Amino acid sequence: MNLKDHIRGIPDFPKPGILFYDISTLIRHADAWQVAMGRLAKVVRAHHPDLLAGVESRGFILAAPLALKLGCGFIMLRKRGKLPGATVGYDYDLEYGQDRIEIQADAVQPGQRVVVVDDLLATGGTMAAGIKLLRKVGAEVPAAAALIELAFLKGRDRLDVPFEALVSYDQ
Ligand code: PRP
Ligand code: MG
Repeated sequence: MNLKDHIRGIPDFPKPGILFYDISTLIRHADAWQVAMGRLAKVVRAHHPDLLAGVESRGFILAAPLALKLGCGFIMLRKRGKLPGATVGYDYDLEYGQDRIEIQADAVQPGQRVVVVDDLLATGGTMAAGIKLLRKVGAEVPAAAALIELAFLKGRDRLDVPFEALVSYDQ
């Protein structure tokens, strides 16, 4: 199965000139969803994670069921102010302005292997921030994974761990 047949490109969203790769059509198609999760499970399992970390929001859609499939725990990297209790944050630069992701301070035991999972890698800023945040709370990060890679943005060059993607776009 070619997963690209189930991903739709929507022009000019969220801004003029941006082609948005929409996974809604893939995840509502039972077979495509099953195939995508099976393939992700295979590449992520090879890194022997103890936990998977999903990046809010679209990363949660993939990371939580994938963790269940692999028999791993699931932890959340959330947007600012969403997590209760003691948290640790990481601020990172966007094209215009700044963003911040947070994790619960006790989410990871020192040395646990945590693979970060998101739906899509674009500039790589979000994934790089996720990796740094996980290390800040004591995780070992053996790899990162996404369903889609926008290869022309060279986001993987910003990551210092192996990066796995199921489909890649050159424009
Ligand atoms: C999108 C996407 C990735 C990130 C990729 O999330 O889901 O998380 O951008 O971009 P980058 O590689 O350039 O950092 P978005 O911030 O739009 O939020 P959402 O997941 O809540 O929809
Ligand atoms: Mg996202």
